[in-house]
Amino acid sequence: MSENEGFTLWFTGLSGSGKTTITNLLVRDLLGRGSQLEVLDGDVVRENLSKGLGFSKEDRDTNIRRIAFVANLLSRNGVPVITAAISPYREIRDEARQMMDGRFVEIYVKASVEVCEERDVKGLYAKARAGEIKEFTGVSDPYEEPLNPEIIVETERQTPEESARQILDFLEAEGFLPKR
Ligand SMILES: Nc1ncnc2c1ncn2[C@@H]1O[C@H](COP(=O)(O)OP(=O)(O)O)[C@@H](O)[C@H]1O
Ligand SMILES: [Mg+2]
Repeated sequence: MSENEGFTLWFTGLSGSGKTTITNLLVRDLLGRGSQLEVLDGDVVRENLSKGLGFSKEDRDTNIRRIAFVANLLSRNGVPVITAAISPYREIRDEARQMMDGRFVEIYVKASVEVCEERDVKGLYAKARAGEIKEFTGVSDPYEEPLNPEIIVETERQTPEESARQILDFLEAEGFLPKR
């Protein structure tokens, strides 16, 4: 893979698994290397590109297809992209993979529902358990684990810094980033 080619780091994982935290660390590192970069964070996309969409399967799929569409436009023009949305459905993630064949890096940000619920960064699990949020991934809505992701970061056993390092090491080893 040429060093000038874009790539898409496609994070998938439960709410609270660590997608945004690791993204922020990678942003700091990649920008520090002088790389171009664009981030499509699920929460931000839902306030803009996907404003008005809900959490039915259909709306979730539409949301993820939009993210994939934009990630494809950017990455095919040499701009590295990080997407950080739950993206719970395997089939739609695989669609994104096919679209971005060869520059798609799926990263499973792994943490159990129990641990994410303990972290409850945004208080959403408590609301979901109380029935205040319907269709909450991992509680009352499905999450389909990746079967063959390029990278699994074990966030119950790693620090965010270790997870970020693991991803950067992969990108260097695969030639997506120049070695430092
Ligand atoms: N290895 C790790 N990687 C990422 N986050 C971690 C890790 N270990 C613990 N955490 C904690 O888990 C939480 C993840 O929250 P966040 O990044 O907002 O999740 P998401 O964006 O997936 O919903 C943070 O409080 C973070 O400090
Ligand atoms: Mg997040």
